[in-house]
Amino acid sequence: MASNAQRYLFLFLIGLVVGIVGTVMAMRAIDARQDHFPTSVMQVQQWHMGQLKANIDQSRCAATDTLPHLQGLRTMANDIQPAFGSLRDDARFSKHASDLRATLDAALSSPPLNCAGVGTVLASIGEDCKSCHQDFRN
Ligand code: HEC
Repeated sequence: MASNAQRYLFLFLIGLVVGIVGTVMAMRAIDARQDHFPTSVMQVQQWHMGQLKANIDQSRCAATDTLPHLQGLRTMANDIQPAFGSLRDDARFSKHASDLRATLDAALSSPPLNCAGVGTVLASIGEDCKSCHQDFRN
């Protein structure tokens, strides 16, 4: 015969498990409703920046090391406005995005050929990232 205390413990444990399962399901549902497109575009930009930084650290700064990442950054820069639907019509936001594209176009038209040059390009791209983040990233 189970005692009352055992019964209450059993019911408490069932309640706990149901509560945990419910919380996980709710969190997943909330996450699924989020739009991952904008942060994904940003994560890819971040990855290319990281690759360029790693190239400098490893002294791999030939044009063939650098160009694919500059091209990746430039292609993704086209997606910034479509990705951030609510900011697309904000003139300042568009200005920041087109400043970034202009920096990347300049870098692609005369690509850096050594690590010092890659560092300079990386810094000016970083400035463009930063100035938009200062205005629009909470
Ligand atoms: C035109 C504006 C703009 C430009 C340019 C821009 N970003 Fe962003 N970025 C944002 C905004 C807005 C957010 C906040 C997104 C959010 O949390 O929903 C953000 C967030 C991020 C995040 C965090 C993403 C996450 O998973 O929460 C990273 C990383 C990032 N940006 C990297 C970059 C890099 C690297 C560059 C430059 C190559 C760049 N961004 C250029 C607007 C911009």
